[in-house]
Amino acid sequence: APQYRIAPSLLSADFARLGEEVKNVLDAGADWIHFDVMDNHYVPNLTFGPVICEAVRKHAFKPDGTPAPLDVHLMVQPVDALALAFCRAGADLVTFHPDASTHVDRTLQLIKGEGKQAGLVFNPATPLDVLEWVIDKVDLVMLMSVNPGFGGQSFIPSALQKLKKAREIIDKSGRDIRLEIDGGVKVDNIREIAAAGADTFVAGSAIFGKPDYRAVIDAMRTELAK
Ligand code: DX5
Ligand code: ZN
Repeated sequence: APQYRIAPSLLSADFARLGEEVKNVLDAGADWIHFDVMDNHYVPNLTFGPVICEAVRKHAFKPDGTPAPLDVHLMVQPVDALALAFCRAGADLVTFHPDASTHVDRTLQLIKGEGKQAGLVFNPATPLDVLEWVIDKVDLVMLMSVNPGFGGQSFIPSALQKLKKAREIIDKSGRDIRLEIDGGVKVDNIREIAAAGADTFVAGSAIFGKPDYRAVIDAMRTELAK
């Protein structure tokens, strides 16, 4: 079975208690912290920048004391200056939307050059074609199963077919590339999302919308183990 990762999205956390929220969700068994950067230009919402990432970095440790990977999802345009700023603000993985970057290969090289993992994010209607020529520079592929901009939206079912296609492309490449899904992931659909090929799951409202984070994460792992 794949090594599954659960990445709670801070978008649905209490921003006034961000450090505590990060600690609580990692104590509850989260693997990564998903950090949604929105600029009111590429998406119709505004969240946080590199200084908040730097602040979160100081609280993002697993119960055993090891640093938890910060998965920074850039929904911004232009991409490059902020990609660089987040690499330097403690991101471990930086993902961006290829349609937001003028030179996708260059942006990937920029992130890799900072020693970080790089990923491409595909909106529900965006084809995967661009992967063909840059797959050697990609560490992670993320599919959006909602239109980016807001938490708490419903999973778009066509993402399941698209996951199967992305899984084929990744397996054919022979490279160690994670396949992440973002949007509308819940306890009751995570199993079929995994069956379609995802190995990494962003979940915002499903986790932060409940009082007991551990109960949700445990329930997700139980589904994944079925
Ligand atoms: C949407 C963000 C997601 C979002 C997921 O633009 O990229 O990460 O927070 O939230 P839920 O899990 O509530 O759909
Ligand atoms: Zn996201």
